[in-house]
Amino acid sequence: MKKIQIAIDGPAGAGKSTIAKIVAEKLGYTYIDTGAMYRAVTYKALKQNIELDDAKGLEQMVLNTSIVLKPSEKGQLVFVDGEDVSEVIRTNEVTANVSQVSAHPNIRQILVGKQQELAAAGGIVMDGRDIGTHVLKEAELKIFMSATVEERAKRRQIDNEKRGIPSSVEQLIEEIAHRDKLDSEREASPLIQAEDAIYLDTTELSIVEAAQAILKLAEELAK
Ligand code: CDP
Ligand code: CDP
Repeated sequence: MKKIQIAIDGPAGAGKSTIAKIVAEKLGYTYIDTGAMYRAVTYKALKQNIELDDAKGLEQMVLNTSIVLKPSEKGQLVFVDGEDVSEVIRTNEVTANVSQVSAHPNIRQILVGKQQELAAAGGIVMDGRDIGTHVLKEAELKIFMSATVEERAKRRQIDNEKRGIPSSVEQLIEEIAHRDKLDSEREASPLIQAEDAIYLDTTELSIVEAAQAILKLAEELAK
């Protein structure tokens, strides 16, 4: 079977990373969570008190940062300068600030370069916001995954509960809608569906059903 590239984009909580991970495992492909890279540099910027509108300061910091993604039993681990930040990049503070950092074109350029290097080996499932439109324009399979904002907020609330983070669905609807708006309206590679992407609404789909739908398409293309 041919090894293909699979790009999965969409708004927060659509199920991208959960489903991408399953698809990658089933196909024996590498999974790359690009959101974790934007979260990682946001975490470091906050830790170093770099102003989030200081494009030059952020760029210097990112150029001097090592970001390593490692697959593990628990999912993808993320290391920043050797420190395991897999958990701390998911805090509310990072989530609330990541869209401001990811809007800087110079930061995107550096991280996109790393993402393209990681994908060069082939056999890749990559998820994010601009994978089909920008990072892997030639990907054989592009999925634009979404779900209603209410459903996405409910899912996030369950995730938060598991992590011991208190949150209400109403507040999460507001936060998610705000982040989607920032991601969709920025100038540099905004979140939009690629012309050749297949739209997959997961509102009424289980994780297994959504993964199966993508696997079916991937297996056809890899023949
Ligand atoms: O998991 P969740 O949907 O909450 O977000 P994520 O995939 O971890 O991405 C966090 C943020 O990183 C997004 O809200 C975007 O601002 C940014 N991002 C991006 O700009 N481009 C990507 N390819 C991936 C993420
Ligand atoms: O990566 P993204 O932000 O698009 O979403 P995710 O982090 O993969 O999914 C958010 C939560 O929704 C996870 O806890 C998934 O297990 C759950 N989910 C679900 O319940 N049903 C789906 N069809 C997809 C995801």
